[in-house]
Amino acid sequence: MLLIKNVKLVDALGERGPVDVLIGEGRILSLHGGKAETVMDGRGLYLAPGFVDLHAHLREPGQEVKEELSTGLLAAVRGGYTDIVSMPNTSPPVDTPEAVRALRKKAQALGLARLHPAAALTQAQEGKALTEAGLLKEAGASLLTDDGHTNEDAGILAAGLLQASPLGLPVAVHAEDASLRRGGVMNDGPLADLLGLPGNPPEAEVARIARDLEVLRYALRRSPKRPHLHIQHLSTKRGLELLREAKRAGLPVTAEATPHHLTLTEEALRSFDPLFKVAPPLRTPEDVEALIEGLLDGTLDAIATDHAPHTQAEKEMDLLRAPFGIPSLEVAFPLLYTELHLKQGFPLSRLVELFTDGPRKVLGLKPLHLEEGAEASLVLLDPKERPVNPKAFASKARFSPWTGWVLGGWPVLTLVEGRAVYQALA
Ligand code: DOR
Repeated sequence: MLLIKNVKLVDALGERGPVDVLIGEGRILSLHGGKAETVMDGRGLYLAPGFVDLHAHLREPGQEVKEELSTGLLAAVRGGYTDIVSMPNTSPPVDTPEAVRALRKKAQALGLARLHPAAALTQAQEGKALTEAGLLKEAGASLLTDDGHTNEDAGILAAGLLQASPLGLPVAVHAEDASLRRGGVMNDGPLADLLGLPGNPPEAEVARIARDLEVLRYALRRSPKRPHLHIQHLSTKRGLELLREAKRAGLPVTAEATPHHLTLTEEALRSFDPLFKVAPPLRTPEDVEALIEGLLDGTLDAIATDHAPHTQAEKEMDLLRAPFGIPSLEVAFPLLYTELHLKQGFPLSRLVELFTDGPRKVLGLKPLHLEEGAEASLVLLDPKERPVNPKAFASKARFSPWTGWVLGGWPVLTLVEGRAVYQALA
């Protein structure tokens, strides 16, 4: 039994407390104290439901030089995550039930964050032939996606949605038109021209979102069960507007935004540093503002990391050759707690919802609130500020675009069903 005394509670329902939280048998037993072997002082700290990440590249199998389950899932619990969706753009891609089972088995043995592997929508993520959605679901796949690649063939995406809908599986898309994106390494516009760098235009994302929403309309019309399209790492104001309209029209679509698209802009590319090279690219302040508005008004459902580790050597190549991606599992919540909640007054309860019930809903998981009887998959957060130090990351990617940023809201204890999977040294 664990007793956390005098701790404030925050979940999608709001902020409450301070209370004394008694945890045992994997559940919250009481919010009014009780007897326990272990007693913690929760004064000044927040207790929240464990975070859920819809989008992490954990690189297993085949790219363990960048990350592996043991390091990625440790990074996850250090970031306050109890549940992680791993992306299938591995080597080989996760496109068979056997591969999904192998990942789940290995993750279970690690006993860190719970893994919900995503599986490829198409065989080898080549965009040509669909994978076996039914068997993948049976093996434990949480959603289907060719993320890391774009779905150029609208017919395949439609067939994928039709195949996945009776199974209740979401289909997640990396919405960029490859023919417009071409070799762009940063947001297309006056700054890219000034820097002489190839641009990836916002229209590449907007056009693809528009197309995918039409594909969804088609699937909705043809499918006996509602399909579910999920738009990954939405980054543009216009894309957000299309999504808002689609949701108003009742389309079954959800979407996520990433910590980097919410806290950085294309201005960072003035450094020519590949740390800031990501797909879709960092955009303009106007886009960032629109995304934050979208988080507030419910147009966006979740904040997902798109944790994308690469080796130091890869990220030290020149900007044109370095791979796309930013690792963020260990800083995502503190970043948004500080930059959105503390600095811009973004409501804490809504922020926590975007890390908890928002992504849970996308995955079809029940909401999790801090109530007696609730599953004790929880995170304890410390508002005390300290600078980001990527050298201390558990992730193999020990670099960060946020190095030195002074943040609060650090996870100090992560529990999965009452079991401590991470505890910071006091
Ligand atoms: O920045 C990115 N990194 N975007 C992607 O689509 C893929 C990802 C990766 O796998 O590194």
